[in-house]
Amino acid sequence: MLIAVPDLLDATAVASVRALIDAAQWVDGNVTSGHQSALAKRNMQLPEDAPEARQAGQIILDALGKSPMFIAAALPLKIFPPLFNSYAGGQAFGVHVDNAVRLQAGTGFRVRSDLSITVFLEDPERYDGGELTIETNFGVQQVKLPAGHAVLYPSSSLHRVEPITSGRRVASFFWLQSMVRDDAARQMLFDLDSSIQALAAELGHDNGQVIRLTGLYHNLLRRWADA
Ligand code: NI
Repeated sequence: MLIAVPDLLDATAVASVRALIDAAQWVDGNVTSGHQSALAKRNMQLPEDAPEARQAGQIILDALGKSPMFIAAALPLKIFPPLFNSYAGGQAFGVHVDNAVRLQAGTGFRVRSDLSITVFLEDPERYDGGELTIETNFGVQQVKLPAGHAVLYPSSSLHRVEPITSGRRVASFFWLQSMVRDDAARQMLFDLDSSIQALAAELGHDNGQVIRLTGLYHNLLRRWADA
């Protein structure tokens, strides 16, 4: 599944993140690549341990924690600290699948990548190219969203970043381990949760059928979740 989270960051948060990362020292993006993706990757990146990356990443993590849509869609168990990259002057990231397990350098913190996240940090009118192209079961989808919006997609999917033909694309990217490993099961829980929220708004949370469906949601989650 591919889920857009609109307005994850408001304009103030985008400006705060950009002020931090624009002042930092960028390096060649291949510092985080696995062997296969290093062959395909041409971009710039903030070092994982850069203090600016940590601070800007915390702004994003705080926003994720306050987004009911993100929590319902991702059912996050562990989130890798957000990283930041930029593409300009023809840079691109060729087709690849993300590494299955990400290890945070120097900490022993490990995350199985179930979902990949991109948070767009530049106004799409300010650059050409740079679409995130994802191969899904329903065909190829291209994603290019306003600054502050995020997209979640399965880390198992083939994806690429199209070459930048003008301007500069700036984004945050990272991975998460979901409480529900199976993408189809997680999608069904999200659909069920969305319907329960809509029914509860119409009928009230104390409606008998809403209570039964909410119970069903939690009993499925109990069956499928690692916690
Ligand atoms: Ni990737």
